Amino acid sequence: MELENILENLKNELVNVNAEHQLNEVKTKYLGKKGSITSLSSKIKDLSVEEKKTFGASLNKIKTEATNLINNKKEEIETNLLNEKLKNESVDISLPAIQIPVGAPNIVEKIVEDIEELLMSMGYDVVDGPEIELDKYNFEMLNLPKGHPARDAQDTFYVQGEELLLRSQTSPVQVRTMLEGKGEKPIRMICPGKTYRRDDDDATHSHQFMQIEGLLVDKNISLSDLKGTFDVIAKHLFGEDCETRFRPSYYPFTEPSVEMDISCHVCKGKGCPICKNTGWITVSGAGMVHPNVLKNCGYDPKEWSGFAFGFGAERLAMLKYNIDDLRVFYTNDLRESKTFDRKEAN
Ligand code: DAH
Repeated sequence: MELENILENLKNELVNVNAEHQLNEVKTKYLGKKGSITSLSSKIKDLSVEEKKTFGASLNKIKTEATNLINNKKEEIETNLLNEKLKNESVDISLPAIQIPVGAPNIVEKIVEDIEELLMSMGYDVVDGPEIELDKYNFEMLNLPKGHPARDAQDTFYVQGEELLLRSQTSPVQVRTMLEGKGEKPIRMICPGKTYRRDDDDATHSHQFMQIEGLLVDKNISLSDLKGTFDVIAKHLFGEDCETRFRPSYYPFTEPSVEMDISCHVCKGKGCPICKNTGWITVSGAGMVHPNVLKNCGYDPKEWSGFAFGFGAERLAMLKYNIDDLRVFYTNDLRESKTFDRKEAN
C-alpha cells in the first residue's frame, strides 16, 4: 500500500531536485508536520496491537530511509555548488599577467641614503629637524640678524608673522644639535631634509628642494679636516679620480667660508658645457663654524671649533645621473622615473 509507494515517489521526486530550496519543499512534503510520512503516524491508533507493531516498525524504517535519501541529496547539492564555485573562481595561470605600472626609487633619495651610509661609517649621526622652523634657528642664531642682507638670498616662506617660517635651509639643525650638546659634547651629524624658498620653478630651481647639512664640532678642527671629509664624499659619489678644491666664499654662519668644487666628471677637467668650460663644478657651500654661532649655541670658540657644509641633493643627483631638468624628480612621470634604475646601473 501507501507505505511501499512512498519511498518510490520520494526517490522519483528527488531525481529532479537540484537546489536547496527545492529539497526543502520535498522534505516538508514528506517529513514536515503535515508531511505524508508524518501523517501516517496518526493511523497507528486505529490499528490492532499486532498491526501496530509491524506498521510502526515499517514506518520507522521508511522515516529513516527517507531522511537518509534527503540528506544524501543535500550533500550532493552542496558538493555540486562548491565545485561550480571552484570552477568559476579558478585562475587561469596561462593568461598573460596584468602589468601594474611601477617606477623606481627616486634617485635623490638614493643619493641621500648613499651619503648617510658613508658618513655614518665615519661616526656621524643622522638627525632630523622641523620643516616649520623658528626665525631664531633658521636665521638669528646662525649670525643672520633681522635686516641682514643675506636673508634676501633665501627668499623665505613665512608661516606666521615673521617668527615662524618654512626653513629655507637645513642649517637650523646645526643650532638645534649644538644646543642639545650643551657646549660639552663633540658633534658629528648630518641632516638631510626638505627646504623651501620662494623660487619660481624651472629646470634648475624649485620652491622645495633637499639639502644635506653636515656639522662636525670638536677640539682642534681645521679647514683641512673639512677638505679631507669632502674629498672622501666626492670620490665616493663621483669616482676615485674625482679631485676637489675650495674657493673663498661668504656665508654669515661660517668663517672662513668656501665653495666646494669637484673636477668635472664628464670632461675630466678638460672643459665642457656641464662645467661651463672651467673643468670644475660647485657642489656645496661650507666653512668653519663662525665663532658667533658656536657662542650662540653654548660652545666656547676658544675651546671648540668645527666645520659645516650644505649639499643640494637634487644638484648632486643631476650631476651624477646627467639629468638636466630638476622637475623630473617630483613630477612623478613614470616614463622618467623608470629610467632612474637604468641610470643607477650605468
Ligand atoms: N645653508 C647654505 C645654503 O642654503 C648652505 C651652507 C653653506 C650650509 C655653508 C652650511 C655651510 O652648513 O657651512 O645656501
